[in-house]
Amino acid sequence: MEYTAAVITVSDSGFAGEREDLSGPLLAEMLEANGWTIVHRTIVPDDFDKIAAELIDCADNKNIALVITTGGTGFSQRDITPEATKSVILRECPGIPEAMRAESMRITPRGMLSREASGIRGKTLIVNVPGSPKASKECLGAVIDSLKHGIEMLMADGSTRH
Ligand code: MTE
Repeated sequence: MEYTAAVITVSDSGFAGEREDLSGPLLAEMLEANGWTIVHRTIVPDDFDKIAAELIDCADNKNIALVITTGGTGFSQRDITPEATKSVILRECPGIPEAMRAESMRITPRGMLSREASGIRGKTLIVNVPGSPKASKECLGAVIDSLKHGIEMLMADGSTRH
């Protein structure tokens, strides 16, 4: 089974070319080192409709198993990634952000300031992580080992509940 993944960087300044996207390549590297095949990478601005449209395209047209977004999870007025994510998922996966925040709180009390969400659309799992390279690496690192099992359950035909 091929574990396909996309990394979507959500950043106004990254999209405008004013800031180099360091987190996107870093997350892609981490995923590849863990056996994921990166089939799509892009940068979108902090715009609700553009984020939602990108997520829908990854799930419905590109059929990508795992979509990681980085950025837009904080408290700034433009930070809207979790809301755009929740607007396109049917089933929320609260345990994933809970695990990331629990691990983040062991590193910094500011871990509570990331509002990241996660959920399932069709056969695609979407996971938000924060925007900075440090935070994004720490958050993905907290959950990466369990994601493949989740994808295997998601891909399985019928329901094998165990
Ligand atoms: N989580 C980890 N593991 N490490 C961090 O350094 N920084 C926090 C939080 N979560 C941090 C973290 C801070 S200071 C903020 S403001 C938010 O993530 C940033 O979210 P954003 O970059 O997506 O807006």
